[in-house]
Amino acid sequence: MAGKKKSETIRIVKITDGTVIDHISAGHALEVLEILGITGKEGSVVTLAMNISSSKVGSKDIVKLEKRVLEQSELARIALVAPDATINIIQEGEVVKKTRVELPDSIANVVICPNKRCVTNKEREPIHAKYQVVSKRPTVLKCHYCWTLIEEAEIIAQFMEH
Ligand code: CTP
Ligand code: ZN
Repeated sequence: MAGKKKSETIRIVKITDGTVIDHISAGHALEVLEILGITGKEGSVVTLAMNISSSKVGSKDIVKLEKRVLEQSELARIALVAPDATINIIQEGEVVKKTRVELPDSIANVVICPNKRCVTNKEREPIHAKYQVVSKRPTVLKCHYCWTLIEEAEIIAQFMEH
């Protein structure tokens, strides 16, 4: 229809085998890639869609990873920045499993304690960082050793630094 602008539905390419991380809070897809350590240099196909309109949540981001299955610890990390994300395992073009990400009650490493004097930041023989999850929405972590609170903005800032 020349000259007539149709309202279009954006359809993102489906994948054959891999993982679809859906319902990522709008604008947070890059952080999800960052926490998974995906740079694009791995060679596998990664599809990213941001600010997609969704009837259920208004707008959302989606990340599709071909030929990749995520570990439990990776799902916990995703929950730090995208607490409503759903994980769809795709096999031979079909969704064979759908789960929600879930933050555990405690989480190891992931971020550096912002308190420079914390034992986890000692230059010699540092203790591994460990955090208690004191709030899931928004994410607030509490250092197991010095009780410093770490908010979502700080967590995201640390992921984006690398
Ligand atoms: N998907 C995909 N490739 C496939 C199958 C599904 O990329 N071969 C994607 C879909 O595009 C969607 C997600 O995986 O983003 C979940 O698919 P599906 O369960 O079919 O969609 P919905 O019913 O809309 O999911 P939900 O109820 O979780 O919103
Ligand atoms: Zn600390």
